[in-house]
Amino acid sequence: MRLKVQPARRPLSGDYRPPGDKSVSHRAAIFGGLAEGETEIHGFLDSADTRATLEAMAALGAEVSESNGVIRMRGGHLQAPAGDLDLGNSGTGMRLLTGALAGHPDLFGASIRLVGDESLSARPMARIIEPLRTMGADIDSTDGRAPLTVRPRRLRGIRHALPVASAQVKSALLLAGLNADGVTELTEPGISRDHTERMLPTFGGRLERGKLQCRLDGGQHLIGTLCRVPGDLSSAAFALAAGLIVEGSVIQLTEVGLNPTRDGVLRIVELMGAGLERTVLTANDEEPAGHLQVRSGKLSGVDVAAELVPLAIDEFPVLMALAACADGTTRVRGAEELRVKESDRLAVMCRELAKLGVRVTEYPDGADISGGPVRGGRVDSHGDHRIAMSLAVLGLVADGSVEIENAEWIRTSYPGFVDDMRALGAEMEWL
Ligand code: S3P
Repeated sequence: MRLKVQPARRPLSGDYRPPGDKSVSHRAAIFGGLAEGETEIHGFLDSADTRATLEAMAALGAEVSESNGVIRMRGGHLQAPAGDLDLGNSGTGMRLLTGALAGHPDLFGASIRLVGDESLSARPMARIIEPLRTMGADIDSTDGRAPLTVRPRRLRGIRHALPVASAQVKSALLLAGLNADGVTELTEPGISRDHTERMLPTFGGRLERGKLQCRLDGGQHLIGTLCRVPGDLSSAAFALAAGLIVEGSVIQLTEVGLNPTRDGVLRIVELMGAGLERTVLTANDEEPAGHLQVRSGKLSGVDVAAELVPLAIDEFPVLMALAACADGTTRVRGAEELRVKESDRLAVMCRELAKLGVRVTEYPDGADISGGPVRGGRVDSHGDHRIAMSLAVLGLVADGSVEIENAEWIRTSYPGFVDDMRALGAEMEWL
């Protein structure tokens, strides 16, 4: 489907509440299925990706029901699924589940196939398969990619240094470590999102943490609990970016997750000169959240420091769109991980921005993006939800309408995107 965006004719304004956090929703579904007894999840993200994980947990024997937007799960006793587990487009679902299943004692003797769509089947899985095999896991892949076949069996804990800062790899290994013999100890080269580490203790799990280390004992027993999923900062980033670039806009973003391992986008836009006011609501060990007020204003290009890259990893498509509206040049480096997301986000953003007249230079691990006038035109999401939404935001300041092909992929993370943007005053329609 094609999404048509008209240049904004008036400022955007209003209160905006983002949908539930995708990363936290995946984890809540997985922990809810693993934990004994009842788990209640409030604010679960209703999207294709998170549904796929929830359905996989149901196929693995968790009881799942839903009423008034609250998900209830009864877990703790897994069984082999009747068919393949289809994780659709979701790298988080596939990687975390593979770790959770690899050593699960209820599933010993089973053979479980995890499949995904074309994009997911092209993404690297060796990054989890190799360390899981070191733990003793029996996993087959197709040249290091999905489909994966997991034959759960007894694992042993490992001490492992992750070569890239990846919350998915870290979480897969922690989930495997919960069922392993002995201790699993991980070290990361940089900070990545810590939702798994924050959620585990709420399910009665035990974990020790340092800045770049975490360590847990195997043989843990999880107990169901109440989970509250905060608003997704990665989804809110689109409204935030729109509010920054459409002249005269003032938007109040409410109940947004402000986890410091995820807030790189806020730090980067602040360095670009954005006016943001934060009101922190919760600053506990679970997921911090708060309100953000965004006002449009002049932005300047920046050199994005490499250590901020993992903290804003999903926001680079929209940050690149913002850079196209800033004075001067924004330089991103150390971001080669963007090439193995739902699309090669460096290549795709550079190509699509250029179609709208933006001056970009692509590098193996980043890009230079210069601000200037943005033309209307036709672009393509390349099957990537965040590319589609980033280009839609940029369309609000183009000199003519922008049409985005294959924009229906937005459903993977944010089915309500177009309605939410319209509620703020943007003109967008499905063609
Ligand atoms: C995620 C981790 C990140 C991020 C992805 C969600 C998670 O991936 O890009 O959208 O929920 O753990 P990597 O771990 O591959 O960096």
